[in-house]
Amino acid sequence: MADKKVYVTDESSGTQLNLPVILGTEGEPTLDIKALPSTLGYFTYDPGFAATAACTSKITFIDGGKGILRYRGYPIEQLAERSTFVEVSYLLLYGELPTETQLNHFRDELTYHTMVNEQLNHFISGFHYDAHPMAMMAGVVGSLAAFYHNRLDMENPEHRILSAKRMIAKMPTIAAACYRHHMGWPVGYPQNSLRFCERFLHMMFSVPAETYEVSEVAAKALDLLFILHADHEQNASTSTVRLVGSTGANPYACVAAGISALWGPAHGGANEAVLEMLDEIGDISNVPKYVKRAKDKSDPFRLMGFGHRVYKNYDPRATIIRAACYEVLDELGKDDPMMDLAMELERIALEDDYFVEKKLYPNVDFYSGIIYKALGIPVSMFTVMFAIARTVGWVSQWLEQCETPTKIGRPRQVYAGPVERRYRALHRRS
Ligand code: SDX
Repeated sequence: MADKKVYVTDESSGTQLNLPVILGTEGEPTLDIKALPSTLGYFTYDPGFAATAACTSKITFIDGGKGILRYRGYPIEQLAERSTFVEVSYLLLYGELPTETQLNHFRDELTYHTMVNEQLNHFISGFHYDAHPMAMMAGVVGSLAAFYHNRLDMENPEHRILSAKRMIAKMPTIAAACYRHHMGWPVGYPQNSLRFCERFLHMMFSVPAETYEVSEVAAKALDLLFILHADHEQNASTSTVRLVGSTGANPYACVAAGISALWGPAHGGANEAVLEMLDEIGDISNVPKYVKRAKDKSDPFRLMGFGHRVYKNYDPRATIIRAACYEVLDELGKDDPMMDLAMELERIALEDDYFVEKKLYPNVDFYSGIIYKALGIPVSMFTVMFAIARTVGWVSQWLEQCETPTKIGRPRQVYAGPVERRYRALHRRS
């Protein structure tokens, strides 16, 4: 992979180091700096890892400048239009689109693992009714290891893939149980006769006293959102899963850490924060005031759902979701003034030099909440929805790391604390 040469010369010692250039599949050049400390005695400093590749991966490719996203080489636009979340899950896990037989078998495997140990439902019932569902998810998913301690040999590939499928299958069941606990409803058990998204919506919204017909429109919209949120290369939560996995921790602990990282409003928590922001803006007439606040460095307010570490162009997922908003609202016969507000906010921001110069465009989180809201998903559950979908990416990346010789992740630092000093007895301190 390395065929170009870049040299670093330390003028103080006259030592020169050749830094091999690693070329990714799409020709993206990366400097291999592994030899820097031992040869020139230098570390590199890159807070937030904005310029640092932590791994090689074959799963997802993003070109931030061109707004390109591909899962295993397939453009997100084609998968969004023609695939399903279960098929995309197979693709991310195994690297190839399944045959019909493989897909049916994979779907049956996921269906087989939808139930959770009944003790987990008692665990969930112990939370306060208005606990944030992401707090519940992080706790409950981390506890799954307590139920599968006999199949956690991470050196055993069968245990690894089984753990991965268990999490993909059980996340919707756990998510729905968290929501139902909040609503004061009895546990909703998975109906395995239903498909993935229909089954989730049924677990979320069915009540014992009435029959519940799942809306095909809602299930299709959810399937699209899950496809779009499934993976996104080395984002903060996936990098967290990899870092935790590099210590040999079990996959449930890794995914629980990923859930916690995703919760932050700078990451997956942004979809919830967007709706809260739109609610606070309230009316189109207030948009200029909030855009002004977003540009004011002395004001911590940011336009939630705008900007991205990698995309310096329109997030291709936002483009797809924005179009889907209209279809879903129309097919469900719903009108949401927040959609008009979001569109006006986008229009004004994208005409403003600040956002244009900083290449701040709507990201995946800007419009997704409009659809979740139309499906009856409460705002507090928006990031849980993101976590259900991203579990596929997390476990796919975790499996890839398990199958690759990996050193424990352990970044260095620039020490800025005090030099050595002597301990002073208590009575001698002023
Ligand atoms: C996700 O990494 C992924 O792939 C994530 C994700 C995935 O699928 O996993 O795509 C999902 O997390 C999407 C992002 C959701 N978060 C938000 O919408 C929160 C609002 N966005 C920002 O917090 C911010 O844009 C980030 C966190 C998304 C990106 O931050 P960066 O890359 O660290 O960029 P930055 O903070 O250094 O911003 C660069 C400049 C700064 O101004 P200057 O210091 O250069 O003057 O742009 C400004 C920022 O102040 N800026 C914003 C802004 N985002 C960046 N100003 C106003 N509003 C914003 N939203």
